[in-house]
Amino acid sequence: MDFTGRDFLRIQDFSAEELRYMLDVSKAFKKLKHERKSHKCFPDKNIVIVFEKTSTRTRCAFEVAGYDLGMGVTYLDPTGSQMGHKESVADTAQVLARFYDGIEFRGFKQETVNTLAEYSDVPVWNGLTDSCHPTQALADFMTMEERLGGLKGKTLAFVGDTRNNVSNSLMMMSAKMGVNYIACGPKELRPSDEIIAACQLEAEKSGAEIIITDDTNALRGTADAIYADVWLSMGEDKEKWGERILLLQPYQVTMEMMNNAKPETIFLHCLPSFHDLNTTTAQDVYEKFGISEMEVTDEVFNSERSAVMDEAENRMHTIKAVMYLTLKNK
Ligand code: CP
Ligand code: NVA
Repeated sequence: MDFTGRDFLRIQDFSAEELRYMLDVSKAFKKLKHERKSHKCFPDKNIVIVFEKTSTRTRCAFEVAGYDLGMGVTYLDPTGSQMGHKESVADTAQVLARFYDGIEFRGFKQETVNTLAEYSDVPVWNGLTDSCHPTQALADFMTMEERLGGLKGKTLAFVGDTRNNVSNSLMMMSAKMGVNYIACGPKELRPSDEIIAACQLEAEKSGAEIIITDDTNALRGTADAIYADVWLSMGEDKEKWGERILLLQPYQVTMEMMNNAKPETIFLHCLPSFHDLNTTTAQDVYEKFGISEMEVTDEVFNSERSAVMDEAENRMHTIKAVMYLTLKNK
């Protein structure tokens, strides 16, 4: 299987076999890391990671994975480059490709990461856009496989804003990998017809079932993993908090929801999460709307069934695999 020189922009650009292979390479890298075995494969390579939006996990995962592979890493923060305001994305892509062997981008429009890929002749990796978060989906599937002992035939239920970037990538990954997907949220936040149709097409090949519903009863006895994400994503208008809270409160992941699924159902979240009042955003929301927990209760988040810290760790191993495979032999 040859990934050399390819971009990693969306899950749909890869076959089930290729995604399977990426997960296997991620597992191998995790083992190496845990055994503290050096794997500096690319001592002569450098990468740049460009962020239009803030990040903890994705930035650190790319940096540490880059260093572990022996590479030099440059971080450009949301205000740290000329891109967009003084220099076009196309020009920036060509310049960066003269310096670096690979480019990571996190930002608003999918179009920007696509343009970076089009105008540079080095691999471009998508670290999240408004429409998808493909490296997150890889880490989530690695975690599900570790915790559930397999993927095929399992059921993943995403509860909340089912048309957001994380859900879009998870639905496509599920459809490809033969995992049943329940997108459970209010009709107003339903995934686009185009994305549903593309996923259905893949699901027909893999045997997965894709269910779009506003009824949390669909999770009863079915969901092996319940996934939550923030109710308002980066880049969305803060004025929408009130409206979102009204729409999404019935979809908060509680211990009752977890217990109604299956006794062994696990909880997943891409993080960061509003499960307590220990952030300024959660404090603001509490003062305005009187709620102290949002997409998940603190009880579920901190329970034994929560796999969120494994997921966070797996971001690094999966991102390392993506970089390794696309940079190999270049
Ligand atoms: N899950 C995730 O992408 O986290 P960051 O926003 O911290 O990168
Ligand atoms: N949907 C969230 C994911 C953060 C990792 C956002 O875009 O803010």
